Amino acid sequence: MRVLQIPSLRVSVTGRCNLRCVYCHGEGAQEVRSSRRLSPQEIERIVRVGMGFGVRKVKLTGGEPLLRRDIAELVRRLSALPLAGVSLTTNGVLLAELAEELSEAGLARVNVSLDTLDERLYRRLTGGELRRVLAGVEAAKNAGLRVELNTVLMRGLNEGEVWGILEFASQHGCSVQLIELVRGSSGEFYRRHHMSLEGVEAELRRKGEVLRRRRSPHDRPVYLVRGVRVSLCSSVRSTAGCSGVRCSGLRLTADGCLRSFSYSDSGRVEVPGDEEGIRRAFELALARLRRR
Ligand code: 5AD
Repeated sequence: MRVLQIPSLRVSVTGRCNLRCVYCHGEGAQEVRSSRRLSPQEIERIVRVGMGFGVRKVKLTGGEPLLRRDIAELVRRLSALPLAGVSLTTNGVLLAELAEELSEAGLARVNVSLDTLDERLYRRLTGGELRRVLAGVEAAKNAGLRVELNTVLMRGLNEGEVWGILEFASQHGCSVQLIELVRGSSGEFYRRHHMSLEGVEAELRRKGEVLRRRRSPHDRPVYLVRGVRVSLCSSVRSTAGCSGVRCSGLRLTADGCLRSFSYSDSGRVEVPGDEEGIRRAFELALARLRRR
């Protein structure tokens, strides 16, 4: 009997990244422990087996997923499966070159990390060039992709930019996801710049329309402000009252292990190459989730 179903699977396709963001929690990078790297065929096979466990949505992440030369092939394979959606989270640096190819491969939407519209602050936060990301957003829109901007809010750094970013999103037909800072490698950075999203949320409520209400701390409320869909992603510290399904997300690491969404959980299940082995790996990973 399968108690838990996993509606979405995050797939980290590489641990490598071409930026060095000061706040990065290193999703995908820290968890790579072996030199194994899943091929597009292997990822497709794992997702197909995952569909038997409820997987309907796949999100490709990294590191930076666009650093993989075969990213379009992977998207093409996954898009051919009867999934509800395949999306990709990128820093946008290489998006201008790849948007058209990704769209042709069947990608419907991208999340682009964009924390500031100030070139100098962008360089300070990421080490990269803002204009490449802006060109990437534009190319993605031109290629027909839906674009959501991911903005991590940081006290004393970009907290004053919410309205500027919403304006930019409105001009470019993007939606926005405002993200609460999660503790990354530097505890000092977190202490200095972490802020709750409550104040921003109150402002969105005043200036916009509620599209999806927050019913529990796990929910991502959605507002419509100046024609822009804005969702809020707060980090949930307590798992008390967890509904199970919300917390049952699984991640596939770049070196072929299944683990929980949570960054702190170190339980990993290595996924073998054959279908029966993959099925057993899902069962084991789900059993571990259930026990948490
Ligand atoms: N806290 C919150 N979000 C983060 N991201 C990266 N590091 C952190 C952090 N410490 C976001 C990036 C990207 C997404 C994959 O995760 O901005 O959009």
